[in-house]
Amino acid sequence: MSTQKFATEALHAGHDVTTNGGTRAVPIYQTTSYVFEDSDHAANLFNLSQPGYIYTRLNNPTNDILEQRLAKLEGGIAAVVSASGTAAINTTLLTLLKAGDHIVASSSLYGGTYNLLSVTLPRFGITTTFVDPSDAKNFKDAVQDNTRAFFVESLGNPKLDVLDLKSISAEAKAVKVPFIVDNTVATPALLNPIAYGANIVIHSLTKYISGNGTSLGGAIIDAGTFDWSSGKFPEFTEPSAGYHGLVYHDVLGPAAFIAKARIEGLRDHGAALSPFNAFQIIQGLETLEIRIKKHSENALALATWLESQEEVTWIKYPGLKNDPYHDLAKEYLPKGQSGIITFGVKGGFEAAKTIANETKIFSLLANIGDSKSLIIHPASTTHQQLNPEQQESTGVTQDLIRLSVGLEAVEDLQADLKEAFAGIK
Ligand SMILES: Cc1ncc(COP(=O)(O)O)c(C=O)c1O
Repeated sequence: MSTQKFATEALHAGHDVTTNGGTRAVPIYQTTSYVFEDSDHAANLFNLSQPGYIYTRLNNPTNDILEQRLAKLEGGIAAVVSASGTAAINTTLLTLLKAGDHIVASSSLYGGTYNLLSVTLPRFGITTTFVDPSDAKNFKDAVQDNTRAFFVESLGNPKLDVLDLKSISAEAKAVKVPFIVDNTVATPALLNPIAYGANIVIHSLTKYISGNGTSLGGAIIDAGTFDWSSGKFPEFTEPSAGYHGLVYHDVLGPAAFIAKARIEGLRDHGAALSPFNAFQIIQGLETLEIRIKKHSENALALATWLESQEEVTWIKYPGLKNDPYHDLAKEYLPKGQSGIITFGVKGGFEAAKTIANETKIFSLLANIGDSKSLIIHPASTTHQQLNPEQQESTGVTQDLIRLSVGLEAVEDLQADLKEAFAGIK
């Protein structure tokens, strides 16, 4: 774990000013490639006997600083950044799995991830059993001989269920499969899944970490705690045809997975992060801790106000005392419960759509984690492709409105919603 406090690491980790020409800000190395000293130097870089940069699809000095910083903030040994959060999930799963393998996943996932697991990956022979994540036993019961990963979101989008990571990680450990946690909504400033047994942490950097809604990005952080030598992962213990016979576990030890995610994953799938986006994301990461605290405070204040509004039929925010996940939030998210709220309105599907149309400060769009407040009606948009049962299991009801509460004054956000509510009367 970090040796300095979060706020300090978020500003400094990974950036040695003495090796970057004294630049106080992290420079943007906007280059595709790097000049080798000679052919031997190039050969050493390619066979991993010497560290260094080859080509920006594989690594880049700006991205490298972001990677080191994220690894530090999540308590991992190393990270790989990618073009989006979805790219991070894909690169992780395609680095770990092959046709015939199976995943046990929480049913409470971002709609895009749900589609990837339920529709796209099965086309390549990788199947998923979705389980209700509120009971860790459900993960155990879904395990098959070919199960090779557990996948969850620490704070589900949009169901806002706080998972009991300790119990689920114990089940993953018992069957010797890596426990992968998408920590996008919680952010490392509120929760470190590795401290509760996660082996791999995923982020969409597009959301709170960037914070300004300017840049897509993703990250994979390796805890370095998984034992790849159990026999279940021959790709790590036998010579890799994809990298001239390298035996990842022997040569790279605890870094076997994250090294493969870079040198085969980024190389073959190509989902590299632009150094310009890495720079933008670093600007956001510098202030993450104070922003997420304010997002959480604003969301709690707004959720408390929404509870008393006659148009609102139900509300979910784990910071609310009577929320079903409040006890887990006290354990896993004591510093704040992030900025997402969901609620239902009288009048169901049509009324929810109308409210999303009517707000002025809340922008109607498909994103979360921006400093500006956002609103969406998932049943008619992000979760439209799912059938009613799938919508229900991912927590999306017909009347559900999702808010991503920004950093504006709460009074203005209340007034904006109040006016929009008038539109359904
Ligand atoms: C929890 C979660 N994970 C992953 C993603 C995908 O991230 P990206 O849009 O950066 O691909 C999202 C996007 O909304 C998300 O909410």
